[in-house]
Amino acid sequence: MISTVATKPYADQMPGTSGLRKKVPVFQQENYAENFIQAIFDSLEGFEGKTLVIGGDGRYYNREVIQVALKMAAANGFGKVMVGQGGILSTPAASHVIRKYGAFGGIVLSASHNPGGPTEDFGIKYNIGNGGPAPEKITDAIFARTKVIDSYKIADVADIDLDTVGSFDLAGMTVEVIDPVTDYADLMETLFDFPAIRALIASGFRVVIDSMSAVTGPYAVEILEKRLGAPAGSVRNEIPLPDFGHHHPDPNLVHAKELYDDVMSVDGPDFGAASDGDGDRNMIVGKGMFVTPSDSLAVIAANATCAPGYAKGIAGIARSMPTSAAADRVAEKLGIGMYETPTGWKFFGNLMDADKVTVCGEESFGTGSAHVREKDGLWAVLFWLNIIAARKEGVKDIILKHWAEYGRNYYSRHDYEGVDTDQANALVSALRNKLSTLPGTQIGSLIVSEADDFSYLDPVDQSVSRNQGIRILFQGGSRIVFRLSGTGTSGATLRLYVERYEADAAKHQIETQKALEDLIGAAETIAEIRKFTGMNEPTVIT
Ligand code: G6P
Ligand code: ZN
Repeated sequence: MISTVATKPYADQMPGTSGLRKKVPVFQQENYAENFIQAIFDSLEGFEGKTLVIGGDGRYYNREVIQVALKMAAANGFGKVMVGQGGILSTPAASHVIRKYGAFGGIVLSASHNPGGPTEDFGIKYNIGNGGPAPEKITDAIFARTKVIDSYKIADVADIDLDTVGSFDLAGMTVEVIDPVTDYADLMETLFDFPAIRALIASGFRVVIDSMSAVTGPYAVEILEKRLGAPAGSVRNEIPLPDFGHHHPDPNLVHAKELYDDVMSVDGPDFGAASDGDGDRNMIVGKGMFVTPSDSLAVIAANATCAPGYAKGIAGIARSMPTSAAADRVAEKLGIGMYETPTGWKFFGNLMDADKVTVCGEESFGTGSAHVREKDGLWAVLFWLNIIAARKEGVKDIILKHWAEYGRNYYSRHDYEGVDTDQANALVSALRNKLSTLPGTQIGSLIVSEADDFSYLDPVDQSVSRNQGIRILFQGGSRIVFRLSGTGTSGATLRLYVERYEADAAKHQIETQKALEDLIGAAETIAEIRKFTGMNEPTVIT
């Protein structure tokens, strides 16, 4: 019943910021997914007889790979696999299921916010027993294994019916098809004041969630419409589709523009939110106010005790280096620890496991807490609703008051997508080469105070991650950061992050790009973006 199948290695199976991501036709090559899954199993120890969680965001090729992964898990000796009905588990829900049932680990099939479909993206990510993405020492071992793999193990059995909840036998291993929503929705109910949010909604506060035809639809319908009483239709694009209905499931001002415009319109809803393909990202929009992810982290941290799950206060805050320092001011005021990590949720895992931090956030529309070990889109939405219900104020008032108290960190990210990889690398090495000459340089009225390539020493396991983004700091606390995206699947994406701190409340309502104009100009002067990318302007501004 168990076959050992000979295979040849592929050279390109290096996991990126968040697992292996490639176009579907790449995954459809002979044994491509099998090789990677076997390489995962070969890099782990001690899972014999234990439980594995498997689920995905429902994108094209999800079901096929789940069937393969189930048969391979059985052949490799797992005792049980818990899989979401229909192959569905959002990334935060998968993290929760791993933790709640004490699973050995989990496989999440997703390419997150990248489009889905026969010629679009697919991905495989491994999460460890704490529910979080595998740390680099595991992903490095997986990559090393993919380069030499010569066989994989699989059970020769029929496909499992993924659509029926229940227990099944697969070559001696138990497959438990679980409802993907209930455990997660129950967890949210323990963290947030559902009666207060229900009362807010009942009083006429209009909430819409755009699930972008991706995985959060069933979760949002259950929580917002069923448990919190929002009218039917409050969740839009609620059915997960293999091609996300041709949406680009990335909740930002470009891809969720319809939602943004709706909330900003005169009779639009009071509050809008969107999630990405696998449900870990979020975008928050209030009437008259878009909330940057950096500000969202700061506001959640500052108001955390409103929510029952955080009533005792938070232990500390972590943010990725390119995320604005808005949360740092909150941590300072609360007298709690603040940690600056490289980009990638996996860097927060150790800090949360060691109880050093409770809430974490990234500029890339990711916010979350120690309730799971992934960022969590709906969690952020519920946190905001809880804060609004407790403070009896709308998003705009909350933000304006926050800035008045802490000052405003003007912030924007400019992306240059589809850049030739060699040119992007050349830009970064040219920058690296001039780092030591930059301090003291004057550009317009800006004077460079420091310039470096960010490197991180993990305070828990002492591991060091170098070359995590080039930072140029200016006198007065403004900064620009350059880094190449680790999640793209074609060409390179250059990201420029721009930040300026403004303490004076009279200057808090300037248009963001205008407020950052001089820094954006300085970035061009220093890095010669136009010359290297051949582009006159960014493809996305958030
Ligand atoms: C994924 C990761 C995040 C990370 C983001 C940005 O969503 O889960 O932790 O911040 O990618 O990555 P990139 O390398 O594209 O800037
Ligand atoms: Zn995602």
